[in-house]
Amino acid sequence: MSFNIAIDGPAGAGKSTIARKLATDLSYIYVDTGAMYRAMAYYFIQSGIEAGDEQAVASACENVDVTIRYEGGEQQVLLNGENVSAFIRREEVGRMASETSVYPVVRTKLVQLQRQLAAKENVIMDGRDIGTVVLPDADVKIYLTASSAVRARRRFDELCEKGTECSLEEIEKDIIDRDYRDMHRDVSPLKQADDAVLLDSSDLDIDGVVSEMKKIIQGAAK
Ligand code: DC
Repeated sequence: MSFNIAIDGPAGAGKSTIARKLATDLSYIYVDTGAMYRAMAYYFIQSGIEAGDEQAVASACENVDVTIRYEGGEQQVLLNGENVSAFIRREEVGRMASETSVYPVVRTKLVQLQRQLAAKENVIMDGRDIGTVVLPDADVKIYLTASSAVRARRRFDELCEKGTECSLEEIEKDIIDRDYRDMHRDVSPLKQADDAVLLDSSDLDIDGVVSEMKKIIQGAAK
């Protein structure tokens, strides 16, 4: 039997940074489900499909095959066999992923893949619906959040470091819009599972969050 850890929370809460670090420390497989929605979104963008065109999204889904593989412990996302990991981090792809992940046809496809991975391996899986829908029986569930101001500031600093010009105000607006969409969609909205532990990272640095999470995981493993 595999041991599964589910981490959910809004965009920019630090889920992937933390989950990746925890997975390395605990020798678990890290599964970034957002990257799968991003790969689908990338396909829709490349195909010139509008996010609002559910019919076009549904028929495109028939031609999309998303799989993952690991290289040096890092998840790589393959879209119809092509590694698209380097192309899916842009804001535009994230927005499209949020807009198209509202469609059941998109979710059904990816949830199946996520469950298969968790059944085989000890995973730390992050996303929006992991503790509520994908792995309702996960051994540990954590809901990681932070204020929108803190999340926007972290993203802003990250982009500045890369030399990308951006506006803090616009980033925070985008985060608030994304939260709203992710939390209010009909299918699998982002919400804290009843049995998830809430962790607010607004006043913690990365090591602080990792150490809090380890305490939660150790508590659950007893
Ligand atoms: O975590 P992320 O920013 O890479 O995710 C991009 C979008 O994908 C997010 O705004 C909503 C969607 N998503 C989802 O609906 N369910 C998941 N389990 C993960 C991501």
